[in-house]
This record gives sequence, structure tokens and C-alpha cells, in this order.
Amino acid sequence: MTFSSMWRDLAPVGRDASSGGYRRFAWTREDATLREWFAAEAQRRGLDLTVDRVGNQWAWWGDPDAALAAGRPGVVTGSHLDSVPDGGAYDGPLGVVSALAAVDALRDSGFEPDRPIGVVNFVDEEGARFGVACAGSRVLTGAMTADRARSLTDGDGISMAEALSAAGRDPHELGPDSETVRRIGTFVELHVEQGRHLSTLETDTPVAVGSDIWPHGRWRIRTLGEANHAGTTRLEDRDDAMLGFAAAVIAARRAAETHGCVATLGKVAVAPGGVNAIASEVTGWLDARGADEDAVRRVVADVTEVVEEFGGLVVEDSWTGSTPFDPGLARRIATRLGGIPVIGTGAGHDAGILANAGVPTAMLFVRNPTGISHSPEEFATSQDCLVGVDALATVLTDLAGE
Ligand code: GLV
Ligand code: MN
Ligand code: MN
Ligand code: MN
Repeated sequence: MTFSSMWRDLAPVGRDASSGGYRRFAWTREDATLREWFAAEAQRRGLDLTVDRVGNQWAWWGDPDAALAAGRPGVVTGSHLDSVPDGGAYDGPLGVVSALAAVDALRDSGFEPDRPIGVVNFVDEEGARFGVACAGSRVLTGAMTADRARSLTDGDGISMAEALSAAGRDPHELGPDSETVRRIGTFVELHVEQGRHLSTLETDTPVAVGSDIWPHGRWRIRTLGEANHAGTTRLEDRDDAMLGFAAAVIAARRAAETHGCVATLGKVAVAPGGVNAIASEVTGWLDARGADEDAVRRVVADVTEVVEEFGGLVVEDSWTGSTPFDPGLARRIATRLGGIPVIGTGAGHDAGILANAGVPTAMLFVRNPTGISHSPEEFATSQDCLVGVDALATVLTDLAGE
């Protein structure tokens, strides 16, 4: 299977015909199709497929346990296949397909790894369904407890435990899996760039190495009011939950500007949800990020103050502090790839969760000419994708060949 034939296989899965965007959420039918695809690709290559306690899929070339016993833990690459609502084709799948293509390239070249090479498909990276991003790697490494994960609910009130059962998995199996984590000597995630750094360089530079991930988190904002008739309730008699929420939206924008961060309210649920009914309850999700942890905290504090003035509540859903990738590894990769740039990112990744769990971790970014991500406009040329595969193959040769 070539890169382009794998890409063609994945193209229709979960694609919305009208927007062109993808809806691939954890433990849904689309997710099951993607997981079957991954398992079939592993089998086709004779890789050993294992599924950890969380449901992340690992395809191994070589025996990771024998290697670990010999003090030579494996080199793992890969990413995720799930998406945000109406996401692009590249965020996630590019890393998985490139990993398989890089393994093919190494095998075709006759390369014999001294360390096993693993390809991973992390489950539920975007947290689009249950709200917590990188759920698969968080539970794997113990950064989120299994109890909390099981109790997360989706927009229809279905818990992750129920979704796991419906997908044929035992929710009690969910939990940290140190045996799986120990097998990862080094992790390298290739990803589409989610900004314009590479496309605005004067030199033709299709690939960069990651330096760090900005501190980022998600908070749930809830404001309460009283449902009533939109036509007959006088303004002075209203208790409108939307007012406090609207104030929070403006406060988030102002605070982000003041503290040099970014803040987004991109998802909101209004009850009862009628055009002609005053809102009794608004729940919205604040996503805040920035280069400086204290500054991000200040944004959340400013928003909280406003929400509390309206009698509302702000609750933290997830928080990931400043996450530097292994600097020695980044330098080594940048040098090996001919002095390519080393850039930071405001996007979260499973690579960040692994880095925080102490795994030496690196990322490769492939140029995105639109600079847009989490949207159908996300893009990378096929030529750049193949440069990415080559770069990843070179990195794997270096890391698994010693
Ligand atoms: C995930 O892609 C995130 O950064 O929100
Ligand atoms: Mn994403
Ligand atoms: Mn991603
Ligand atoms: Mn991400």
C-alpha cells in the first residue's frame, strides 16, 4: 500500500458531503471503521497488533518486550485517526499514514532495525465526543484516572463507559498501562502544521521539528437563569442565563488580549434551546492557551470573575502545563534532517502527554499552505506529505538503527 492508496482508503470515512469536513469521534461507527482499517494495515505488513487497556492500537515491527528486556526499548511513531467536528483530513491521519509509509520505505530499503519500531493509533485525541482532549494517552499514562474517563459524557448523555461497552470493550479494563508505556523508548509524532510558520518562510521548507507545546486547558462555564416566554416577559422580570455567558465571551477576548494569550468559546449548549424561550442554562467551553502558564491562568481568573458576578460557575475540565519536547532529540533530528527549523505550537498532542510522562518525545510538522486547521480548509500538498514520510523514515533509521 502506498501513501496515496492509504490516503484514498481513508478519504470517505466520516466525511460530511456538504461541508467536506470529517466527523470521526471516539467509539462511534466511523471510529470502528478506522480501527479496522488500522488493524488490517498492520496485518497486511505482518506487524504484531496489540491494543492496550485504553484501546490505543500498537503495530510492532520487532518484539518490544524482548527489546525492553535487553535494555533497548522501541521507537514509536504515529498519531490519531479521530477528528474534531467538521475537521480536516490531515490532523491525525497524516501522522498514522506517514508512519506506515515510513515503515514500508525502511523495509523496502532493506533496513534491519536494532530496536523494534511501533506504529500507534491513539484513541480519542481530539476529545470531540467526551470533552477531554488526548483521552487515550492521558488514561494510558495515568494523567487522567479511569474513573473520571468512564464517567465523562457526550452530548447525548452517553458515558464513555457506555460507549466502550457499545463498541464491544469492557469499560473496567480501562486504566493506566505502564507495560505499554515502558515499551516506548522514544516517540516521534508527525503532524500537519496548524499555523503558517513554514508557508511564510522565504526558503522552501516543507518540514520542521517541534520544540514545545504551549500550556493549554479547557474549562466549562455554566450560567443559570429561568426559562420564560420571549414575548410576554418584561425585560426587568427576566433572569436570562445568556447574559452572563455573553459577558464571559467578551471577557475571554479582552483577557486574552490583555495577557497575550488566545481564548476560544467554540462550543455552547443552551437550555431549553428555543428561539422564543429565555435561556435557563448555558454551558460553554472555554479553551485558553498561551506561551506563559501564569498568563493563561490570569485569563481564566478574569473570565471566572465575570461569570461569578452573574452567579455562574467555571470548572476546569483539563489542564496541560508548558510541555517542552526533549531538546537533545529535537536538535539531533533537526541536524539529521539538514538543519530544518525548530518551532513551537499552541496545539495539544498525544506527544505532549507522553513527554509529560517522561518519554523522550519529538514532533515533525509538515507545511500547511492554508495555515488552517480543525476545518476542512486544512491542507498539505502530496509532495510535502511525501517529504514528511522521507523525513520520518530518516529519523526512524537514525533512532532505531543504534
Ligand atoms: C487538539 O488538536 C487541540 O490542540 O485542541
Ligand atoms: Mn487537532
Ligand atoms: Mn492532531
Ligand atoms: Mn491535537
